[in-house]
Amino acid sequence: MKLKARPRYLFVDASTYCQLSCPVCPNGRGTLDDFDIKRGHLRPSDFRELLDANPRIAGVELSNWGEPFMHPNIVELLQDAHERNVKLVLNSNLGLRKEGFMKALVDNGVRKVMCSVDGASQETYEIYRVGGDFDAVIENAAEVNELKKKLGSEYPRMIWKFIVFAHNEHEIPKAKQMAQELGMEFQVALPIETDLSVGKDIECTFSPANDKDQLRREMRFAAMTECEEVIGYDPMPSTCMQLWEQPVVNWNGDILGCCSSQKKIGGNAFVDGLDKAINNSDIRYARAMVLGLKPPREDIGCSDCYIYKEMARSGRWLKPKPPDKLVRSYIDHFGIPPIDRSWSIRAYSYIQGNVVPWSYLIIREKFS
Ligand SMILES: C[S@@+](CC[C@H](N)C(=O)[O-])C[C@H]1O[C@@H](n2cnc3c(N)ncnc32)[C@H](O)[C@@H]1O
Ligand code: SF4
Repeated sequence: MKLKARPRYLFVDASTYCQLSCPVCPNGRGTLDDFDIKRGHLRPSDFRELLDANPRIAGVELSNWGEPFMHPNIVELLQDAHERNVKLVLNSNLGLRKEGFMKALVDNGVRKVMCSVDGASQETYEIYRVGGDFDAVIENAAEVNELKKKLGSEYPRMIWKFIVFAHNEHEIPKAKQMAQELGMEFQVALPIETDLSVGKDIECTFSPANDKDQLRREMRFAAMTECEEVIGYDPMPSTCMQLWEQPVVNWNGDILGCCSSQKKIGGNAFVDGLDKAINNSDIRYARAMVLGLKPPREDIGCSDCYIYKEMARSGRWLKPKPPDKLVRSYIDHFGIPPIDRSWSIRAYSYIQGNVVPWSYLIIREKFS
């Protein structure tokens, strides 16, 4: 695998502010300032220039460590992407009610909103989503559903993302039912804890779920350690693939690398230009580290990451996600395959037919 990247997707964090205080999130805990994230909003002019200078970018996840609707000009950012035919995905707690927010999602063809709603009642929801207003979330979801029906639009796909804890596992059936009534898809997820400030690693000790059978019914595994056997690859190291496939740009342009990273790991996309920033010597060294080709270097953020530490401990270095799964997941996310030009059409049709040709691997090599 080449150490340079030429991705079609990015994460760009619209804002690192949040109105909630989720106890296991570095944002909710107030530790974002401990490393390189800091608090701030993406400048719309920086966003526009980034997209204009890199027409190859076809999909952007406009959130990472914060709540995108905290951005004072979020509607402008959605419009800017839409005007440039860049497909957007958002992760949001969906708890901010303001006229025009939900309409902007529909009007600007946002592909998907991952809505973090870990409960089916105010009492349960607010145990993790501290400061959250469950009714506001439901009103927002209902508004999107109404608008989509009125305009005959299938987008945005609204995904009710339910992180399962001991305190909310009994509400999964009710949440599923509500999601269906609101025209939302429903996904459960395991909690993880990634806060470098408190030295925590993958296993989350906050209110761990008890009903393992329910977890296995809902998502086929009840712990990260069971995952590889079930889905055929280990999802945690595949986060490192973002260094190539979907690098994370902080609100101020700093390249963080992957969505787990709280440290600057490349250059600055707004100062150096995207391609230079995501391919400077540090981030290329980081890529070599996660492949096990170079020893850890203390000044490279990956050295502190629980995923890297686990790979180093086990000697099982990053193996790229199987290409069919990679392509499928990105098509599901942005509606666009990860390689451009006519090759993408060929690769897509092969994958539709469940066949992944070797030529596709060679093509990926060429464009990565
Ligand atoms: C840091 S949040 C930022 C986006 C938005 N504020 C939200 O909560 O959806 C990014 C993602 O992390 C998820 N998240 C928060 N706490 C988590 C936890 N303990 N384990 C796993 N994911 C978590 C959120 O649900 C969201 O999907
Ligand atoms: S809503 Fe999202 S960003 Fe805000 S504290 Fe919770 S998980 Fe973190």
